[in-house]
Amino acid sequence: MADFRLAFIADIHHYSEKLGNSGRAYELREGSDQKCLKETGAILDTVFAKFAAEDTDCVCIAGDITNDGEKVSHDEVLAKFLHLNEKKKLYLITSTHDWCSDHNPRRFEGNEIFNDVETLSAEELTNYYTLFGEKDCIASYKTPIGLVSRCFQVCPGLRLLAVHDDCDAKGGKSGYSEAHLQWMADQLKKAEEDGCKTIAMEHHLLLHPFCKLVNSGQSIGENFEVAAFLADHGLRLMFVGHSHMQRTTEFVSEKGNKITQINLGSLTGYPAPVTYVDFDGENAKVNVEFIKEFTYNGEKCDFEYFKKHTLGVLFNLLEAGKSDKQDFYERLRANGIKIPSYDLLYPIIRFICKKLLRAHCGGAGRLINFFTFGKGIDRKALKAIKRMPLLELVSKVFLSIFDGSVFVKDASAAEKKVVCSVGTLPSRIVKKLPLNKDKKEKILKTTDQIEALTKELMYPSEPDNMNTVIAL
Ligand SMILES: [Fe+2]
Ligand SMILES: [Fe+2]
Repeated sequence: MADFRLAFIADIHHYSEKLGNSGRAYELREGSDQKCLKETGAILDTVFAKFAAEDTDCVCIAGDITNDGEKVSHDEVLAKFLHLNEKKKLYLITSTHDWCSDHNPRRFEGNEIFNDVETLSAEELTNYYTLFGEKDCIASYKTPIGLVSRCFQVCPGLRLLAVHDDCDAKGGKSGYSEAHLQWMADQLKKAEEDGCKTIAMEHHLLLHPFCKLVNSGQSIGENFEVAAFLADHGLRLMFVGHSHMQRTTEFVSEKGNKITQINLGSLTGYPAPVTYVDFDGENAKVNVEFIKEFTYNGEKCDFEYFKKHTLGVLFNLLEAGKSDKQDFYERLRANGIKIPSYDLLYPIIRFICKKLLRAHCGGAGRLINFFTFGKGIDRKALKAIKRMPLLELVSKVFLSIFDGSVFVKDASAAEKKVVCSVGTLPSRIVKKLPLNKDKKEKILKTTDQIEALTKELMYPSEPDNMNTVIAL
């Protein structure tokens, strides 16, 4: 058969500009978010026009369709979906941001935040989006909160399990009840009997792309047990969203069955990824592309725009800390750090922010080496990048969390060595501390994760996050 091409996107988080796109309250909300807010409609228009014009056969969306379940955002995005669906097949799942699970819908006007925003419930969502893929749906399963998982016949020989994991595991966690899992197993068995391959998408993580330190709380309940169950029932490829980090991770069950998770980054935040999958009847050839530009209000926004927005979360906070106490504390609170303003503490904060904004790797590294008796950071590597602004290096590491370390591929060997020296430092210090064995091992569990995380960021391990082939 000729290749069938699917495009996967996630976490588009469409935000209607009718909810506010200017003023202090909006500015704080926008400045605390890794992804764009008012620009989401423009980004979607660009990407959907690209899908409509190219040889993509179908588009799959892995949940968090709206900013926070606002009806006005759903109405706008539905119109865009319907338009795209005239030319391409479209399958989607929703997730917690689509039924406003935190019960805190917001609109922004001047300095004020208002909660008088109409939202859709989980049950209403199902009816709202049910027509997408309706003709291809061969089985469905309704979860206790009214969401419907579906199995679609995408093309001859390929099925897609589009499953809703919201609140279905023990204790209302994201994940699956036994009945839901059994339904998936039944679909996998049926597909095999019918000579079809199956791929799946859910919103929350099946595997941690990094480690618990970064992805704790983002995965479904009993995630490794579920991963083993699905792998042992023949599922080889699962697409997930939620973390906003583009990453490919593998897991092998005790019985030796492998499943690959492709964690899709957010389409409306850096690096704005689209994951293409070419299905040839046996294999899924995966290739990730980034959206290079879009037009917002008549102005061209390039790839740097996404980068700048994501880094703005960090840089705007430091700039505020350097010069404006009120702005600094307001930004902290907008980022979810709810602390009162301390007048006595602020001079220290201002000093640290000023230093960080001006610091070079050489100076920062020398300081670390002073406190670690010269053992903290590799001196030769440090010398090679001594004039590099510290925040330039920090930015590379930060962006790499979201882009699958593409950015770090440009980093020099010295930069990688310095970052890894810093990452191994906590473990090296703990090993020298006069602590009892149990306590030391407990702390080392965390510090070893920091070490592994930095290594994974600077030297990404297999499989390649951008290109890979998965045998289905
Ligand atoms: Fe999200
Ligand atoms: Fe999410």
